Amino acid sequence: MPAARRTLFVTTALPYANGPFHIGHIMEYIQADVWVRFQRMRGAEVHFVCADDAHGAPIMLKAEGEGITPEQLIERVGASHREDWARYLISFDTTHSTHSPENTELAQSIYRALRDRTPSLIESRTIEQFYDPVKGMFLPDRYIKGECPKCGAKDQYGDACENCGSTYAPTDLRNPTSAITGATPELRSSEHLFFRLSAPEVVAFLRRWTATPAEGQSLQPEVYNKVREWLGDGKLSDWDISRDAPYFGIPVPDAKGKYFYVWLDAPIGYLAALRKHFDSGAARRAYPHETRSFDEFVADPAVEQYHFIGKDIVYFHTLFWPATLHFSGRKTPTNVFVHGFITASGEKMSKSRGTGV
Ligand code: MSP
Ligand code: ZN
Repeated sequence: MPAARRTLFVTTALPYANGPFHIGHIMEYIQADVWVRFQRMRGAEVHFVCADDAHGAPIMLKAEGEGITPEQLIERVGASHREDWARYLISFDTTHSTHSPENTELAQSIYRALRDRTPSLIESRTIEQFYDPVKGMFLPDRYIKGECPKCGAKDQYGDACENCGSTYAPTDLRNPTSAITGATPELRSSEHLFFRLSAPEVVAFLRRWTATPAEGQSLQPEVYNKVREWLGDGKLSDWDISRDAPYFGIPVPDAKGKYFYVWLDAPIGYLAALRKHFDSGAARRAYPHETRSFDEFVADPAVEQYHFIGKDIVYFHTLFWPATLHFSGRKTPTNVFVHGFITASGEKMSKSRGTGV
């Protein structure tokens, strides 16, 4: 008797909708595409989807700088992404955007499930943060510059020093200025929502999932070693998942003027793309015997779920994402496949550093 046909849900990372691809991105698509085509040739039913990661402060500020709306920016960049995926013959079945009704609905319902658990995994806390009084917004770490508190190097970002490598809070910087207006930021307090990753049940679940993501599966050894460091005793901190207006994102239910931090709704975009794939009838057209609804399909334990990602986003995919899924009552990924970087002069090739090809 032939073995049961495997059913796979496969994604690559969702590219930021802030600019065109460089070959680092294309490398990831080709790697995943080769694997997907191989599985299809072996007779597996494969649903391979992607989406643009459209939210967050950088996209909002970039659009503003160009004098257009974020919607206009993500539409323009989205068109360039779709064109490149087609040019490189990447065989995605459906592509979508995290700025979509499917993603809004999924992110809000996942958040409600985390919040309404007993004990709740969402906690509201007042935190102090730098605020740009000229711009009228709280500043993300990357938009605060100043002198490194350790070595004194000038012009360093609010999260880490590129000179001595130390990491710190933006409030530790000496002589901080806003990278947006040059103003001196002031400390203001604001209420933020946290996902209680440090809760004992979450830590216990993550230790289990990272050791054996699914039956017969394990993370790559290098990845697992890193993850074990992060999961060391008492090391996991709660995750700040809300941002204050103005922000380009998905509104947090029952919390006026608050939006989900982009990394909360970005991986949920995998599910939003899959939902579009099922709701549009594309899944059924590719596989006429596939009669399940989106909800039935994602909940089916027999469906294998794989994410191809680069090493810079392992933290989000091996800790935040499985925890988000599990504690909202959903199925967790079967595995994540992690690749390294294409480098330029020894450093990660990147658009923001101007080294993208
Ligand atoms: N938007 C997030 C991912 C959200 S997934 C829910 C993001 N976007 S990205 O555009 O910066 O990167 C997309 C993918 O490309 C990531 O997997 C990243 O690791 C990969 N790469 C970006 N630069 C790369 C190289 N220079 N080399 C190889 N892969 C690289 O992160
Ligand atoms: Zn330093």
